[in-house]
Amino acid sequence: MEQRVFGNTGLHVPVVGMGTWHTFDVTSREANERERVTDAAFKAGATFFDSSPMYGEAERVLGRTLRGRRDNAIVATKVWTSNDREAMTQIAASLAFFRRSVDVFQVHNLVAWRNRLDQLQRLRDEGAVRAIGLTHYAASAADDLLRAMKDPRVQAVQVPYNPRERWIESAILPAAADLGLGVIVMRPFGQGSLARLRVNSSALEPLKPFGISSWPQALLKWILSDMRCHVAIPATSSPDHLFANAAAGVPPWLGPDERHYIAGLAGHPS
Ligand SMILES: NC(=O)c1ccc[n+]([C@@H]2O[C@H](COP(=O)([O-])OP(=O)(O)OC[C@H]3O[C@@H](n4cnc5c(N)ncnc54)[C@H](OP(=O)(O)O)[C@@H]3O)[C@@H](O)[C@H]2O)c1
Repeated sequence: MEQRVFGNTGLHVPVVGMGTWHTFDVTSREANERERVTDAAFKAGATFFDSSPMYGEAERVLGRTLRGRRDNAIVATKVWTSNDREAMTQIAASLAFFRRSVDVFQVHNLVAWRNRLDQLQRLRDEGAVRAIGLTHYAASAADDLLRAMKDPRVQAVQVPYNPRERWIESAILPAAADLGLGVIVMRPFGQGSLARLRVNSSALEPLKPFGISSWPQALLKWILSDMRCHVAIPATSSPDHLFANAAAGVPPWLGPDERHYIAGLAGHPS
């Protein structure tokens, strides 16, 4: 698995990690099955994990599957509330799930971001947080996100990017690169809808020299071939899918022609 320097944070991240929205919001009985997904992530070197208090039981379940190996993982989670006191409660719960330390603590959907940055900065000073980030999922928030990214306390940004959702290309990606921010790509498969597209194996034939043997791998390589993206975090409940996704995290990377070809297969030629 290729590792990339995560902006100016001092962290090195594997280019393929794992999200936990829906997939890790499960009962304690199902949590045992999710342990196998985390096992696969460790075997494949996809040891960057993203969660949020917004994802129900996901933080608790992820924390449980990381027991005994937390030090070998990079954990990103979020705080998501406009209430300062509730924010402290959320942050304390996250720290408890992840053995008192979160690698990338993000302000979810920019909610009350100035106040949250004040709180997260204090935690970074105390050594409980390594990097502070911001997330948003919507193109309509691009201007607000851009403004917030310029706050000197911000070190990372998490945004959607796939052949159907390219709004970050015009301003967010260039600004992230200029500011030295780490970039986490959410929704690499458009919440699963892109991964489910039927693409003929013959259409993937020209991509074989790039180590691509499946359509989801083509989508991940499409993202990761833009070197301004540091880690993509597909969510999965399947160890097999985890292994297949992780296999896309190695060179050779694609050029503009192959990226254009894949965008066309996705129905969104650039
Ligand atoms: N969506 C958002 O608005 C949002 C917002 C903030 C943060 N995030 C973060 O970004 C992460 C990723 O985004 P997402 O979960 O919305 O969607 P996604 O990663 O684009 O898609 C997840 C879906 O893809 C399927 N999948 C994964 N690998 C596959 C493979 N190799 N072959 C076929 N299907 C595959 C999964 O099903 P299986 O379980 O069957 O594999 C799952 O249904 C989230 O989990 C979260 O951590 C998302």
